[in-house]
Amino acid sequence: MERILITSALPYINGVKHLGNLIGSQLPSDVYARFMRSLGFEVMFICATDEHGTPAELAAISKNIPVKDYCEEMWSLQKKIADDFHISFNYFGRSSSQQNHQLTQHFATKLWENSFIEEVEEKQVYSLADNRFLPDRYITGTCPACGYEKARGDQCELCTKQLEPTDLINPKSTISGSQSLEIRTTKNLFLKQSLLKEKLEKWIETKEGWPVLTKSIAKKWLNTKEGLKDRGITRDLSWGIPVKKYENIWPGFEDKVFYVWFDAPIAYIATTKEWSDKNKLPDMSWKRWWLIDEGAENVSYVQFMAKDNIPFHTISFPATIFGSGENWKQVDFIKGFNWLLYEGGKFSTSEQRGIFMDQALDLYPADYWRWWLLANAPESSDTDFTWESFQSTINKDLADVLGNFISRVANFSVSKFGNVIPETQIYGQLEKETIKKLDYHYKCLKDLMQNIEIRKSCNALRSIWVTGNEYLQKAAPWSILKENPEKSKMIIRFSLNLINLYSLVSEPFIPFTCGKIRDHFQFSKVTKWPESLDSFLNTLGDGHKIFVPDILFHKITDEERIRYQQTFSGMDL
Ligand code: 2FM
Ligand code: ZN
Repeated sequence: MERILITSALPYINGVKHLGNLIGSQLPSDVYARFMRSLGFEVMFICATDEHGTPAELAAISKNIPVKDYCEEMWSLQKKIADDFHISFNYFGRSSSQQNHQLTQHFATKLWENSFIEEVEEKQVYSLADNRFLPDRYITGTCPACGYEKARGDQCELCTKQLEPTDLINPKSTISGSQSLEIRTTKNLFLKQSLLKEKLEKWIETKEGWPVLTKSIAKKWLNTKEGLKDRGITRDLSWGIPVKKYENIWPGFEDKVFYVWFDAPIAYIATTKEWSDKNKLPDMSWKRWWLIDEGAENVSYVQFMAKDNIPFHTISFPATIFGSGENWKQVDFIKGFNWLLYEGGKFSTSEQRGIFMDQALDLYPADYWRWWLLANAPESSDTDFTWESFQSTINKDLADVLGNFISRVANFSVSKFGNVIPETQIYGQLEKETIKKLDYHYKCLKDLMQNIEIRKSCNALRSIWVTGNEYLQKAAPWSILKENPEKSKMIIRFSLNLINLYSLVSEPFIPFTCGKIRDHFQFSKVTKWPESLDSFLNTLGDGHKIFVPDILFHKITDEERIRYQQTFSGMDL
């Protein structure tokens, strides 16, 4: 495969996301995108805001602004925060784009023509006070099974019983609190995904290398009636992509829009077109990523998402693509993530529990968060963010191991040999052994990253850093300076080359710091990672200028940790 297409699950537009959302898709997909670019692949890395649906409408109402303006504002904010975290999207678009309107309507039309869509009459709750149909979860009442008074129309949170809104005793609208509700009949379009069962089954069977988490969720949905049941893909709402009245195939649908989960994954494709249109590129430039007979046969497509998104990406979206009968690229690999917990509990937006992306950046630089989150990515199980763990990981890995090495080497070099890399003898036995060790970890890092094993990759990277520290400790250039200054110079030259290596291989993980190191030391930009490290670790010499850098990582103090533990516990709010 020459080209890699990467999509990160589209964040809902309403509200700034928390660190759990960040490690659930944008951050690991960014590391993978940066890494694959470093290996010389052509990468298209796409994301967008997921703008439709009732939550966005309600958020806009509560701010008293039109939903369009609200989305505009929130898109800018989310884009800025992603930039501040150094997420290297090729394009961050919007699911409300014209491109997505067209493409969503196109898919629906194709599905209709191929008989995968039918009109279904159903009964739904209408709120007279709110002047709208209410989605099930916006109706609350008393649970008929356990008596819990705040049960939602789709499920009782207390006893977990699945409910229909009509089961609730004394139902009311969550939006207005009104009890003037009535049952009305409405028509919706349904995607008959059950007809595609065999096709989906066969397709999923071919995905041998899929992670256990992804495959088990996909199979569970495929093999239960509930999972594969035909799904309503339209809603009685005003905010969304209107159901197009195409050659009069859907009269009576003029006031309806597509369901947010129908148009959101289509936006992966539409956003690539948005990128192409914005840059005034020919159509071919986006089609070669997405259409099999226009070049996408050479594309490997990887999706990143949290586990609750997996059913939509293994069943509903592939069904949409298969059902269209067109040659769209299907996903090759799905990387799913478990949950990140916050100090033993859930992140909670309503209780302001946990750390949100904007707050995080007010406390520490993006690379601190990136490193902790990646090193602790919830890959095989949920993981818990604790302030203790954050403090000790940052202080040890970044400050003591990486940062300390760089400042020790630069300080020693400048104070003993001035502002140029000393001209020296060739490397000795210890350097050769160290290169061998480094080469081993470097190869592991490359293999692990190609398999998108995020935590293990962090371990391999950490081993590279640690190998440098062990080398310096053993070589001890300070202790031989007097009796053998030439050897001491050689050790320092090798160590400076190690800093060059660190700034290269750490870049996907902590890109801002690596940029700083590269700029400071004037390392030349490497467009493609070397096959092996032998000659790379001999790059610097010949009078290359050296100055002492500022401290790269400040340690997190106990006082800070205790303060933030209290601030973000959500208890006082
Ligand atoms: O769960 C979520 O945050 C959704 N907004 C993800 C959508 S992913 C894609 F299909 F667009
Ligand atoms: Zn109940």
